[in-house]
Amino acid sequence: MVLHRDLGPFDTTAIGLGEMPLTIEDNLGHGKGIETIHAALDAGCRHIDTAWAYYCSGGEEQTGEKLVAEALSSWTGPRDEVSVATKVGHYRNFTDGRPTWDVDGRPESLIRHAKESALALGVDSIDLLYFHRPDPRIPYRESVEAIRQLVDEGVARTAGVSNASVEQIDAAREILGADLIAVQNQFSPIWTETADTMAHTEELGIAFVCWSPLGGFRKPKDDAVFEPFRRVADRHGVSYQQVVLAWELSQGEHVFVIPGAHRPQTILDSLHAGDLRLDPDDQAVLEHGVRKD
Ligand SMILES: NC(=O)c1ccc[n+]([C@@H]2O[C@H](COP(=O)([O-])OP(=O)(O)OC[C@H]3O[C@@H](n4cnc5c(N)ncnc54)[C@H](OP(=O)(O)O)[C@@H]3O)[C@@H](O)[C@H]2O)c1
Repeated sequence: MVLHRDLGPFDTTAIGLGEMPLTIEDNLGHGKGIETIHAALDAGCRHIDTAWAYYCSGGEEQTGEKLVAEALSSWTGPRDEVSVATKVGHYRNFTDGRPTWDVDGRPESLIRHAKESALALGVDSIDLLYFHRPDPRIPYRESVEAIRQLVDEGVARTAGVSNASVEQIDAAREILGADLIAVQNQFSPIWTETADTMAHTEELGIAFVCWSPLGGFRKPKDDAVFEPFRRVADRHGVSYQQVVLAWELSQGEHVFVIPGAHRPQTILDSLHAGDLRLDPDDQAVLEHGVRKD
């Protein structure tokens, strides 16, 4: 069984499927996307992470949320066990001819997009709705007040913030109270700058969800950082990616990981990370290798 943890009111898996690679640039097509989500669910994954903005720049909007909805409605397993998180505040654009991720944190945009997210997901109420990323043009609290309104109106059951600093988490907590159940920040062996927010969420008793937990699906910026993980992986006879995820999950009971995948094989392997027990020798090797910023 895949490791379970409580994400606010949801009993879900500590290892979720990050949907993004299935619908942004370089995805392997609609059929592979459905196959990958079904494979994850069949293997016991009960947590899917998507976003309003997970589509190709210039293409049809919200294809990530639509793919998740289609995969869940055609899946024959227990749909009510699956928690789906989505996010609003980003949209895709082109700058200098290249696909970009732009932000729009205006309250009216967040409210419109969240309602569109619920429609695309085919739900009355979104399980977990994140404010995707602060918009420097909009006071942070104004954006979070829109998330507050969405929870009050029942568009979302619970709320989260993403790409948030300790100060922003505290501001969100003031506005959202107990409805703030999660912070989703980048965290991996190549990205430990957010360790302060991981510690802060533990103090607050809310979940910390690591995005790009394997360093992202493009070539890691610093592959040497993963060497200690490869050494520990050899000792256990598993992939180094499982060791990375197990190390992240060992940072606290409040930690979740959402590895992305383009294909069933990779998410199926990642889902085993919760079975891996890292002993003190393993931890010493890993802690020594990880970048401390
Ligand atoms: N909140 C935010 O601002 C934000 C930003 C970025 C991402 N996210 C979320 O975080 C999720 C994960 O991030 P990510 O997709 O950027 O990167 P990631 O999870 O760090 O890395 C995904 C890559 O790792 C590979 N992989 C996964 N499991 C593996 C395994 N067991 N063995 C070997 N390779 C494995 C995948 O390979 P294949 O390609 O071969 O399948 C994919 O290329 C996203 O899907 C999204 O939901 C959130």
